[in-house]
Amino acid sequence: MQPYLLMFMLFVAVSRISDCYDPLDPNGNITVTFDIFNYTQDGYVARVTIQNYYQYRHVEKPGWKLGWAWAKDEVIWAISGAVATKQGACKPSTDVKPHCCSPHPLIAATTTEGGLLAAWAINPHTSYSAFDITVGNLDQNRTAYRPPLNLTLTAPTWGYTCGTLQDALPSISFVAGVLREEQVFRTWRSECTYSSYISSKVPICCVSLSTFYNPDITSCPSCSCGCRVADRSSYSCISEGAISSNVQDAEIVRCTDHMCPLRVHWHIKTNYVTHWRVKLTVSNYHYGRNYSNWNVVVQHPGFRAPFTALEFNNTMLSTVPEDAALFWGKVLHNTELLQGNEYEVGSVTTDILLQKNADAFTLRNGWGFPRRIYFNGENCRMPLPDMFPMLPNGGSGHRPGGLFLLKTLLYLSCTCIMWCRYILV
Ligand SMILES: *[C@@H]1O[C@H](CO)[C@@H](O)[C@H](O)[C@H]1NC(C)=O
Ligand SMILES: *[C@@H]1O[C@H](CO)[C@@H](O)[C@H](O)[C@H]1NC(C)=O
Ligand SMILES: *[C@@H]1O[C@H](CO)[C@@H](O)[C@H](O)[C@H]1NC(C)=O
Ligand SMILES: *[C@@H]1O[C@H](CO)[C@@H](O)[C@H](O)[C@H]1NC(C)=O
Ligand SMILES: *[C@@H]1O[C@H](CO)[C@@H](O)[C@H](O)[C@H]1NC(C)=O
Ligand SMILES: *[C@@H]1O[C@H](CO)[C@@H](O)[C@H](O)[C@H]1NC(C)=O
Repeated sequence: MQPYLLMFMLFVAVSRISDCYDPLDPNGNITVTFDIFNYTQDGYVARVTIQNYYQYRHVEKPGWKLGWAWAKDEVIWAISGAVATKQGACKPSTDVKPHCCSPHPLIAATTTEGGLLAAWAINPHTSYSAFDITVGNLDQNRTAYRPPLNLTLTAPTWGYTCGTLQDALPSISFVAGVLREEQVFRTWRSECTYSSYISSKVPICCVSLSTFYNPDITSCPSCSCGCRVADRSSYSCISEGAISSNVQDAEIVRCTDHMCPLRVHWHIKTNYVTHWRVKLTVSNYHYGRNYSNWNVVVQHPGFRAPFTALEFNNTMLSTVPEDAALFWGKVLHNTELLQGNEYEVGSVTTDILLQKNADAFTLRNGWGFPRRIYFNGENCRMPLPDMFPMLPNGGSGHRPGGLFLLKTLLYLSCTCIMWCRYILV
C-alpha cells in the first residue's frame, strides 16, 4: 500500500500546481469578445459576446454578470440586450444622461433566458449571449482606445478567472447569407476559466454503486460533502419525514451520511450474452432547489463502443481517451431534476445497454464501475476501489488490482484535494 500512498501524495503536490486541469475538457473556457463595429464622435459601438466553450458546464439561473474597470473615463451611453446594474454618478454637464457612468460597470442580461448559456456539447446554438454597448467620453484618437481592464464573470457563481482583454484578429461575420464577409474594426478578447478551488464551494455530488451479483451496496463515502456535526460550512439538513417551515431554502438538504445534495448511483443490473445493462440514477436531496438542464458525464471503457441510453439524451465527448459519455434530459420528459419532499428525493433515471467487447469485457477488478462522474461539471466523489462491490466466491483476485487502484487514486485525488482544502480552510 505504501508506494501507492507515496504516488498519491506526489500527485496531490503536482495537481496543486496545475490546479486540477480537467482532462475531459482541457480547452473549456468562457470567451468574452468585444467587437468594435462602429466608431462614434466620442467613442465606439461594440458587440460584447459571451461564448460558453465548456463541454458540460452551463450557466444556470439567475444567469451571468460581467464586470470590468474602464481604462480611462469612459461612459456607456446606451446598451441593448443587457443592462448595467448601477448607473453610477454621472457629471451634470451633458443634456443626455448616460446609461452608466460607473468606472466599474456590472452588466446583466435583461431577460432570464438571455442570461443562461447552454453547455457547448449539448447545444452550441444557445451557448452564447450578446449585447451592444455605445461607449463614449473618449477623444478622437482611436488608436489610443484601450480595452476594459480587470474583467470579472459570475456565471452565476464565483470561481471564474478572466485573462486580460487583448487585441485579437478582427472578427468576421457573414452578411447577405454567405455572399459577403464583413470585418469589424477591432476585436478584444479574453478567456475565463472556472476553478472549483477558487469558488471554494462545498462539494455537491457523490457516487454510490451496486450490482446484481452482490447484495452489498457501496454507498457514497461518508462526509463526501461535509459532515453533519461540527462543520459550519456544510449544508444544513432535515431528517427524512420531518417537515420544516424553511424547506424552501435552496441550501437545505436531506440528512445523509454523505451530506451531498446530489448522488449518482450506478447499478450493474443484468449480464446478457452480448450486452450488459446498467441503471444510472441521479438523486436530488435538496428540499428547495430544482436543477434545470442538468447534465452528467460518465467515464467508463464500455462507452468506447456504441451504447443505448433509454431515457436520456447523450453524446460522446470529443476527448482522448474516447470513453466519456455526456447525458442530459430529454425534452418534455426529464430535463428538470426536481427537488425532494419529506417522503422522497427527486430523481431522474435511465437504463443503459452496453455492448460486450470480448477482449475487454469483465466484471472483475471493478471494470464494470465508472472511472469518474461529473454532475453539471462538478466532480462527484467516488468510493475508494477497495469498497467496490466484489464478485461472489471471494478470492483475492476479485479485489481491484493494484494498477486499477493506482489509476483510481489518481482520478480521485483531484476531488480529494478540493475537499481536503475545503475542510482545512
Ligand atoms: C477556449 O476555447 C476555444 C474554443 O474551444 C479554444 O480555441 C481556446 O484555445 C480555449 N482557450 C484556452 C485558454 O483553453
Ligand atoms: C455607424 O455609425 C454611423 C454614424 O454614427 C451610422 O450612420 C451607421 O448606421 C452605423 N453603422 C452601424 C452598422 O451601426
Ligand atoms: C494617438 O495615440 C497613439 C497611441 O497612444 C499615439 O502614439 C499617437 O501619437 C496619438 N496620435 C495623436 C494624433 O495624438
Ligand atoms: C485592476 O486590478 C488590480 C489588482 O486587483 C488593481 O490593482 C487595479 O487597481 C485594478 N484596476 C482598475 C482600473 O480598477
Ligand atoms: C421546483 O419545481 C416544482 C415543480 O415544478 C415547483 O413546485 C417548485 O416550486 C420548484 N422549486 C423551486 C425552488 O423553484
Ligand atoms: C437531444 O439533444 C439535442 C441537442 O441538444 C436536441 O436537439 C434534441 O431535441 C434532444 N432530443 C430529445 C428527445 O430531447
